[in-house]
Amino acid sequence: MAEEFLTFRGIHKTFGQTVALAGVNLDVFPGQVHVLAGENGAGKSTLVKILMGVEKADRGEIRWKGRMHRPHSPIDSLRSGIAMIYQELNLALHLPVHANVFLGREIRSAGVVRESEQKQRTRELFRMLGADIDPTLPTRQLGIAQRQLVEIARAIGADAELIVMDEPTAALSEQESENLFRVVDSLRQRGVGIIYISHHLEEFERIGDMVTVLRDGHRVWQGPAAETSPNEIIRHMVGRTIEDLYPKRQPQFGPVLLRLKNLNSPNGTKNASLEVRAGEIVGIAGLVGGGRTEMLRALFGLDSADVEEFTLGDVRIRVPSPHRMLHHGVGFLSEDRGGEGLAQNLSVAVNMTLSAPEQISRWGVLSHTRRERVSEALIERFRIKAKSPSQAVRELSGGNQQKVALARLICADAKVLLLDEPTRGIDVGAKNEIYRLMNRLAEEGRGILFVSSYLPEVLGMADSVYVMCRGTISRKFRVEELDQERVMALATGVEQDQSPHGRPLPQGEEGSQPCARIVSNGPSFNKF
Ligand SMILES: Nc1ncnc2c1ncn2[C@@H]1O[C@H](COP(=O)(O)OP(=O)(O)OP(=O)(O)O)[C@@H](O)[C@H]1O
Ligand SMILES: [Mg+2]
Repeated sequence: MAEEFLTFRGIHKTFGQTVALAGVNLDVFPGQVHVLAGENGAGKSTLVKILMGVEKADRGEIRWKGRMHRPHSPIDSLRSGIAMIYQELNLALHLPVHANVFLGREIRSAGVVRESEQKQRTRELFRMLGADIDPTLPTRQLGIAQRQLVEIARAIGADAELIVMDEPTAALSEQESENLFRVVDSLRQRGVGIIYISHHLEEFERIGDMVTVLRDGHRVWQGPAAETSPNEIIRHMVGRTIEDLYPKRQPQFGPVLLRLKNLNSPNGTKNASLEVRAGEIVGIAGLVGGGRTEMLRALFGLDSADVEEFTLGDVRIRVPSPHRMLHHGVGFLSEDRGGEGLAQNLSVAVNMTLSAPEQISRWGVLSHTRRERVSEALIERFRIKAKSPSQAVRELSGGNQQKVALARLICADAKVLLLDEPTRGIDVGAKNEIYRLMNRLAEEGRGILFVSSYLPEVLGMADSVYVMCRGTISRKFRVEELDQERVMALATGVEQDQSPHGRPLPQGEEGSQPCARIVSNGPSFNKF
């Protein structure tokens, strides 16, 4: 028997009537990466939050290095050598980056915080992670991926003996994830224990030693990572196998729904030109910090932008604004579902129907019954794990919140969907459902433009792909023209195949499939 390190015994936790954990046992050893897998709402975050002192168990005990571990707060846990990378990114946005990295363990001399030393150490941590972030910037100015890297640097820099990573790569691109894995390798060699939670199952093969699968708060399977496979884990997670993670469809393209020529924005987008046709799924790939989110935000009018030409169907848009975009049938799913995506304190039903008042009104008056009915149908369709439509969004697990945000767009009947990381934090079964849904929406004649840091997803789902590199967008590729290596070459600037600035894309360059008419039995759109 290896030395005692970390043990969970019989951990129970309920939230009202929801049983989050039903007697979970788990052992973690030094120098071991213990992977926790499970569907959205399976209880993974709850288990590690109890370890950190964010939540309290109803029953059961945790032993840490031979002693009972009953932390009252994350600071307690940190003092006893346990650090955590939080799924919901717990950063003080008003502070500069280095202050967040050293929050709660500031470097002081004679009581004064030594900022220059903190900045220097932060730079070293970022170098190790391959992150290009200025430690003096206010954290608020960083995008989600960069915030995630700050959160990672904070946990790694704490010199903990055990590090919990709750979906650390959710917002990272392949390259940033690989940098993190290298750091994990070296932590493991130094004898640090790691609890690793992720929905990217292939990561388990890369870094996992042991795998535990939770389902509805129960431990349903455990075994060495080397003796299992993503498919087997999926079977334990969802109780079935998934044949076709990226379901195929026969694309049929209609008229151009969104055409953008030379968008420039102070947030860093340079001469971006792109097109989305009816029935088309368009992916945007690139590195974190490559400018994908910035472009999407400028396009939707969330950040200021200057456009040479912008049309939605026949409507010419001079200055994009969220209000105008929504009015003309464009929906946007923000990568920041906590901040600007969802109203955390409001119910699932209110959040889902926020952009579709007409669907839940009768004679112009809000009908609660309609709202309940519409949201119940969406909860069912997306298999959202919620007690009822009236449950507050903040009480849902991360992945289920993401599903609520997606359901809102569907409910608003958007004709063009701009999706920033639509499946972030979503379990594999639900991902598959979201991909089917994307296919169905495209078949109905809608246009989808989605940003994803997860290349297999871009290559698996998109008909056409743009690759961004430092704020500049490539020409439009047919997905068949690309593989992972070529996308990486374009994303890092090794290969340059930019769209010709100032000139529209030549006809036929944006995909060789015939421009068939879209199916006529789809919904009718009178918004354009
Ligand atoms: N504060 C809370 N109030 C009420 N219910 C909660 C609360 N926190 C979690 N739950 C519920 O407990 C269950 C487990 O949630 P948890 O966050 O642990 O899931 P998870 O496995 O981390 O899922 P995900 O993969 O989506 O992050 C879910 O049903 C969730 O809705
Ligand atoms: Mg979670």
